[in-house]
Amino acid sequence: MSSNDPLEIALRELESLEQFSIAALVAASSPEALEAARIEYLGQKQGKLKAAQERLRTLDPAGKRVYGQRFNGVKQSLEAALSAARLRLERRAVAAGAIDVTLPGAIPRLGHRHPLTQTADELIDLFGRFGFSVARGPEVEDIHHNFDALNIPPSHPARDPLDNFFLSEGTMLRSQTSTVQIRVMEAQRPPVRVIAIGRVYRPDTVDATHSFMFHQIEGLMVDRGVTMAGLKTVLRLFARSYLGHDVKIRFRPSFFPFTEPSVEVDMLWHGGDRWVEMGGAGMVDPNVFRAVGYDPEEVTGFAFGLGIERLCMRRHGIDDIRLLYQNDIRFLEQF
Ligand code: PHE
Repeated sequence: MSSNDPLEIALRELESLEQFSIAALVAASSPEALEAARIEYLGQKQGKLKAAQERLRTLDPAGKRVYGQRFNGVKQSLEAALSAARLRLERRAVAAGAIDVTLPGAIPRLGHRHPLTQTADELIDLFGRFGFSVARGPEVEDIHHNFDALNIPPSHPARDPLDNFFLSEGTMLRSQTSTVQIRVMEAQRPPVRVIAIGRVYRPDTVDATHSFMFHQIEGLMVDRGVTMAGLKTVLRLFARSYLGHDVKIRFRPSFFPFTEPSVEVDMLWHGGDRWVEMGGAGMVDPNVFRAVGYDPEEVTGFAFGLGIERLCMRRHGIDDIRLLYQNDIRFLEQF
């Protein structure tokens, strides 16, 4: 190895960098001097250590290995010297009475979960106590799961391109979490007791109670002897647990192709002056059971789909759905 071998030169310079920088850190006699030394040697942008690291690129693979290893060692010893120097200066300041160690420390600002995530977590917890486990399905869904298997005929107005986000090749952004009912029943035999929580998409005009994307909680229970009375009981118990004992909900006869009979469920809004739709529900239509290979003579089931934003709004007295998406920290901090 001759003395102008690039690796040897680089290693020599690294050596002297180590000596000079440690000397500078040890010699610093004030926090300002230490900070200046830190920037000179360990600075992220123009520090000398950084420059030494860039040297790596000029070496051949074998040289890189040797130099890289040595470089890491130097970096570690510099960082150790910096911490030691900091500690030394701090001890000295405490001893001189310059630092009052009895002062309260700076409290770091902690973030927390978004109110919608909190709501979803609480719903999972609540339905978990009723024996429901969590199922999942994709947001990009095929037409079969979003419509066909749910007994929604090709001519049905729910399929209108103006009311859906269709993608290419028979796929779409799901417009309802009822898709997950189908996926669960395709994958397992009864009995079934699941909820599914997730985003759904509809090209609605945004206003205080509508958005083009929102969240639903879907519930599905299938077994021998499941009844409409069971559905009403579960929804009432749920509403009382989540919204409070004095909450009022009502069931209105309605229609969905995948349930028969069907209802819409309303809750009396905070303020008590108006009813707001919480979601839809009903007894699973026999055609849906047939589409997934369940025998409608053997089992019955109920299903429901509720809007999570509205549940969260009713619970917390929020009057505009848009507040949930604006990420204004002054709003979010209140939850
Ligand atoms: N999927 C329906 C909707 O989004 C709600 C629903 C779910 C109705 C389950 C009945 C049963 O409007």
